[in-house]
Amino acid sequence: MDEPVIITIDGPVASGKTVVGRMVAQKLGFRFLDTGAMYRAATRLALDRGMDLEEEEGLARLARGLKMELAAVEGGDRLLVDGQDLADRLRDPDVERGVSLVAKVSAVRRALVEQQRAIASEGPTVVVGRDIGTVVMPNAPIKVYLTAPVDVRARRRYEELQRRGEAVDYAQTVMELQRRDKIDSQRADSPLRPAEDATVIDTEGRGVEELAHQILGL
Ligand code: CDP
Repeated sequence: MDEPVIITIDGPVASGKTVVGRMVAQKLGFRFLDTGAMYRAATRLALDRGMDLEEEEGLARLARGLKMELAAVEGGDRLLVDGQDLADRLRDPDVERGVSLVAKVSAVRRALVEQQRAIASEGPTVVVGRDIGTVVMPNAPIKVYLTAPVDVRARRRYEELQRRGEAVDYAQTVMELQRRDKIDSQRADSPLRPAEDATVIDTEGRGVEELAHQILGL
């Protein structure tokens, strides 16, 4: 049986993966899977249960017990975790701080990567994350790595948090972003880096529509 076409989009914090990926998926009629949301959901639930984010075995058990799936709704795909849509709680400050700690646990990654592959096997999908082109879907025919200078990415994240009505400090946003980039790129398991066959695109000063168009061209 032919495998469904997969487009992978990886990149560091606030590089534009999610908005651009969503638009590409919409234009192609593909499904959209945000793997960052899966790590965030596991983190949200761990925090809700009062778990210690340094306690790897507990986190692994939690991740192995979660059932994640995509539900098609108007305006795009929604990630359901045990049937629940947690979207509006996945960018809470405590999740933002904790997610990279949860994501560096190998057993958590194994559990979530298995679900990512299962979801992507169901049909053509744009999959965004950190290790999709390198580890999760190494055979994907189209791989993109989005990037932008730290100050550009920090500005984007800062404005996003402000729009959400959060009391944020720009210097703190920069520090938090650099901290997460560092953990994500230096971890032993599946560190953030472009796949050798990825097209690397700098998103500074470029609009979402224009970037989506460039990816469609690939
Ligand atoms: O939107 P933003 O770039 O801030 O983050 P995200 O894509 O939602 O990912 C949140 C975190 O999940 C990342 O900082 C990584 O620690 C982790 N992650 C990962 O390890 N592997 C993935 N495939 C996706 C996300």
